[in-house]
Amino acid sequence: MATTLVKNIKKIAGLGAPESPLRGNNLARLDSIDNAYLLLEDNEIAGYGPMTGLKHAGFDEEVDATGRFVLPAWCDSHTHLVFAASREEEFVDKLKGLSYAEIAARGGGILNSARKLQAASEDELFVSAWKRLEELAKWGTGAVEIKSGYGLTPEAELKMLRVIKKLKEKSPLSIKATFLGAHTYPPEYKHDHAGYIDSIIHDMLPVIGKEKLADYIDVFCEHGFFSQEETETICRAGMQYGLKAKIHANQLNLSGGVQVGVKLCAVSVDHLETMDQATIALLAGSDTIGTMLPTAAFFLRMPFQPARQLIDANCAVALATDFNPGSSPSGNMNLVVAMSCIQMKMLPEEAINAATINGAFAMELQHETGSIEPGKKANFILTTEINSLAYIPYAFGNNLVDRVMVDGKWQ
Ligand code: NIG
Ligand code: FE
Repeated sequence: MATTLVKNIKKIAGLGAPESPLRGNNLARLDSIDNAYLLLEDNEIAGYGPMTGLKHAGFDEEVDATGRFVLPAWCDSHTHLVFAASREEEFVDKLKGLSYAEIAARGGGILNSARKLQAASEDELFVSAWKRLEELAKWGTGAVEIKSGYGLTPEAELKMLRVIKKLKEKSPLSIKATFLGAHTYPPEYKHDHAGYIDSIIHDMLPVIGKEKLADYIDVFCEHGFFSQEETETICRAGMQYGLKAKIHANQLNLSGGVQVGVKLCAVSVDHLETMDQATIALLAGSDTIGTMLPTAAFFLRMPFQPARQLIDANCAVALATDFNPGSSPSGNMNLVVAMSCIQMKMLPEEAINAATINGAFAMELQHETGSIEPGKKANFILTTEINSLAYIPYAFGNNLVDRVMVDGKWQ
């Protein structure tokens, strides 16, 4: 057994193992110890405490963390990080005045990504996604959810999910896979929505179930994409194969996505740029987590998610990157945390909890990661020398992550 001691930590934060996602006032509660140590055995957290209580000696590795903070590694519960190509040409079109909807109507957007992904090999997709994962880990991410949805044919959706399965097998990061065949309608089904839904249910889901290619099912519930009723039909079909729902809801409109998510006991409903009081109250009364994706709102110049209203109403909220080539070409959780404080008025402690333990709950990984707790995976961030936790979102754009351990390995 290999032992590692991280000693003289200025503050270790994110301690404990809450039994349910943090809500309301509890979201601001980030348990911590000053002048602390953290003990690791192989790939697990073995213990922590104040330096004055450190009894053991003779560790295989010792790291002096004087002046530095330790936090749980980020848990990014919503990404589309398997894709074939970036889309900066659309970004420039947008700068010239075209809207997201206009770009989509020209065959851009998701369909552009789908054409490129259909032409890419499984190996090419794996190599590029692997590089992205390595980069995310260096920025402090230890767990990540990855969606399909840029395939849109049985062959290409299964190819994407097989790439995600391989990433799961080979990466030190904890990974969950989500089937998002219902991301948009492929051109050949533009006038036959029922036909595409039929293909999702009868051509894709049985193979996904048989090969255990996904943990969750997602639908882009949005005007012009999938209606509330279609979303319910598709999610229920996925649930037959044991896939719980995680839904793209209320991004551009009051789409009914939150309603269907709550009805189906979805693990999460994600985006939530467009909310009203009734929808917030419904979410607050449920066990479904509301996942906010501020960098997507930022990139699309949309109003940010109403974080304060959601938290004050007692909704369980998480933060994630939505890393994808169309609406959030960044997988940097540090930026998400900073933006949620600066633009959405979340407190630093609230943002850190939403990006760690509540993100872990949104991937059902709360027993494995998301907090510093003996028995959980050795996933944590060691910051540079900083004076306070608040400095992390305050000094946005600075890289304050010095070292990251994921599954017991320095990244
Ligand atoms: O989560 N909202 C739908 N899907 C993605 C964007 C997809 C794209 O433009 O490629 C999102 O923002
Ligand atoms: Fe998304």
